[in-house]
Amino acid sequence: MEPSVSVTYIESAAMSQRKKTVIDILRDSHDFVSGEAISDVLGISRNAVHKHVKSLRKRGYSIVGVSRRGYRLEDEPVRLSMGHVAQRTEHSMFGHSFRYHDEIESTNVEAKALALKGAPEGTVVVAELQSAGKGRLGRRWTSPAGKGLLFSVILRPTLPMNDAHLLTLVAATAAAEAIEKHVPARVAIKWPNDLFIGDRKVGGILMEVSGEQDEVDWVILGIGVNVNTEFSELPVALRRTATSMKIAGGDLIDRSDVLATLLLSLEAHYKAALRAGFDKALTSFRERDYLLSRTIAVETRQGPVIGAAAGIDDRGALLVELPHRRVRSFHSGDVTLNP
Ligand code: BTN
Repeated sequence: MEPSVSVTYIESAAMSQRKKTVIDILRDSHDFVSGEAISDVLGISRNAVHKHVKSLRKRGYSIVGVSRRGYRLEDEPVRLSMGHVAQRTEHSMFGHSFRYHDEIESTNVEAKALALKGAPEGTVVVAELQSAGKGRLGRRWTSPAGKGLLFSVILRPTLPMNDAHLLTLVAATAAAEAIEKHVPARVAIKWPNDLFIGDRKVGGILMEVSGEQDEVDWVILGIGVNVNTEFSELPVALRRTATSMKIAGGDLIDRSDVLATLLLSLEAHYKAALRAGFDKALTSFRERDYLLSRTIAVETRQGPVIGAAAGIDDRGALLVELPHRRVRSFHSGDVTLNP
C-alpha cells in the first residue's frame, strides 16, 4: 500500500489576497509600475502599496523602487519544494506530515502547540521566514527569507526524561553528516549543539522536552541551518562568527534536497539511539568535538569557569580540565573560546 502523506501549506495573514495582487501586478508588467497605478487598481493608498512592497521584500522578493517610475520585480525567492522533500522521505518516519509556512513566529512554537494537541511523532513544521526564531539560552535565531532551513520535528520517544538531553547529540551528528553531503567541508559540533564549519557557526539546534513521571511525552527538535545566505545577509553582529553552506562551498544549494537529507539522517541516528543506546551518538560527537583541548570559559551563576575542554562524559556533560588536573563537568551552559 502507498504511504499517505499530508503536506499543508499555511499562508501568514501578511500574504493576504491583497498582497498577492501587488505581486501579481508586478509580475504581469515585467517593467516599472507606478505606486499610483497600483493603488488605483487595488483601491488602496500609496502608503499601503509601499507597506506591501516592504513586506514582500522581507519575504525575499527583490523589488527595485525608482522615484517617478515606480516598482519593478527583479527576482523572486526560490521556495522549498515540499513535493521533492515528501518524495525523498516517502518511506521515512518524517515523511507523513509536513506543515509548510511562508512566515511564522517560530517553528518550535508551532510544533509545540501541535504536540500539545496530540500531533504524531514525525510531524515536520517548516518555514521560509521566522518573525521570532528562538535560539538557545533565550537568544534569537535570524535568517533571511528563503535562504536557510528553519524547521522543527515532533518526537515521542520511549525514554526516561534523564536521557532526553542526549537527543541533542543525536540531532547534531545527524545534521553534521547531512550538511557534509552537500558541501565539501568538515562540520564540527560545538558542545552541546552548534554546528561549525571552520571557526564559524553554520547552524544550531534547539530542543524542548516535556514529560510526566520521568517519561518523555514529546520532544521538539528545532534545527536552523544557514544554507544559501550571502555574507552581506548575515546580521552585522554575526559577520565575524557565522557562515553559510553557500559561503563555505561556493555554489547555490538546493535547500529541499538538504532538508530531505537531514530528515533521513535524523531518522537513522534517532532510531539507532533508541534501539542500541547513545554510545554511537557519543562517539560520533567526540569525533566532531569543536572545543576539544581548547581554552574555554563556561558561564555559571557564580561567574565564568576557565579551563581546557576535555571532551564529554558518558552522560553528554562537558568536561573541563582546571588547574592541578581537576576536572569539572557541566550539564548546561554557555561556552566561549579563548576567554
Ligand atoms: C541556537 O543555535 O541557539 C539554536 C538555534 C535553533 C534555531 C531553529 S530555526 C528552527 C527552529 N525554530 C526556532 O524558533 N528555533 C529553531
